[in-house]
Amino acid sequence: MPVNRGVLQRYRNLLPITDATPIISLGEGSTPLVRSRHIGKFIGCEDLYFKLEGCNPTGSFKDRGMVVAVAKAMEARSNTIVCASTGNTSASAAAYGAYCGLKTVVLVPRGAIASGKLAQAIAYGAKILVVNGNFDRALELVRQLSNSHPITLVNSVNPHRLQGQKTAAFEVVDALGDAPDYLFIPVGNAGNISAYWMGFTQFFQMERTSRRPKMMGFQAEGAAPIVLGHPVENPKTIASAIRIGNPASWKLALAARDESGGRIDAVSDDEILAAYELMAGKEGVFCEPASAASVAGLLKSAACGLDLRGKSAVCVITGTGLKEPELAAQHSSALPVEIDATLGTVERALELAAVGR
Ligand code: F0G
Repeated sequence: MPVNRGVLQRYRNLLPITDATPIISLGEGSTPLVRSRHIGKFIGCEDLYFKLEGCNPTGSFKDRGMVVAVAKAMEARSNTIVCASTGNTSASAAAYGAYCGLKTVVLVPRGAIASGKLAQAIAYGAKILVVNGNFDRALELVRQLSNSHPITLVNSVNPHRLQGQKTAAFEVVDALGDAPDYLFIPVGNAGNISAYWMGFTQFFQMERTSRRPKMMGFQAEGAAPIVLGHPVENPKTIASAIRIGNPASWKLALAARDESGGRIDAVSDDEILAAYELMAGKEGVFCEPASAASVAGLLKSAACGLDLRGKSAVCVITGTGLKEPELAAQHSSALPVEIDATLGTVERALELAAVGR
């Protein structure tokens, strides 16, 4: 198997890189596109796939964009990067910052990010500032900070982030031989849906795909500014990664929705948790709740009459469930059973009859 040389090398000609851009990589991109065995059958969509972005080096899709943003920061001779984050962006920034010898500063909302994501930022050695406020406030702060100091902002308002993230759309097209009919994707700060649309559009213009998918974006009901048409001051949802009330790429997401003939809708926390359990229990994919919003959206759309028979669909599974292990224990019936270390107790626990010995 060849070395994964990463997004910069693989898509060199399709990214805004120059001879002066350092070609760095932690092995991001080239993630699996896996066929559904259960959910597809259940909703009558035989061609349903999951794009497993949790397989990126820090466990989320953010690495695709971060590698470009960090390489461009180095090209510009910046030595400090900063971001606000609901967790995954900070983990990714901290990893690439460590790898490239940059100082990394992350602002995260107090008590509102998953434990694994915080552990990552700590392990990678970032300067972590826990803000008494939500993500939207933290983003305002880092925007102000990067405007008045020589510090590079690596949130998705940095256009290099979306450039990197669009490569996931290239991979989907390359894997299927064409774009799918539908792309289901969670929406938080709305960068990723915009990046996928950019990628599909670029490949369409290059005639590497005959069509573009309908973009189906899903916010959590308590954090659904785009669906409501106005910012949400105190966004609430169990899916902390998409607990965002005023998305930075709002307009780009609306354009993706409208140009593609798609939809941006909301799913409830109960629907998110049901999809989270279904993905792990029936598809063998342990994803984070925010990622399950795409699957919840698919199930909701099918239940509301979207006919997916004969159509192809991809759900973007944006991050791994290992980021928030506590949640699995709270939302599963398969809890561990403690036993004495004897064969008899193992057999009794499994309701197996003892074989004569
Ligand atoms: N899924 C996961 C796992 C995320 O971490 C995020 C965003 C999204 C979906 C939504 O993507 O913001 O491009 O619409 N996480 C950001 C962060 C906000 O700080 O890690 P989006």
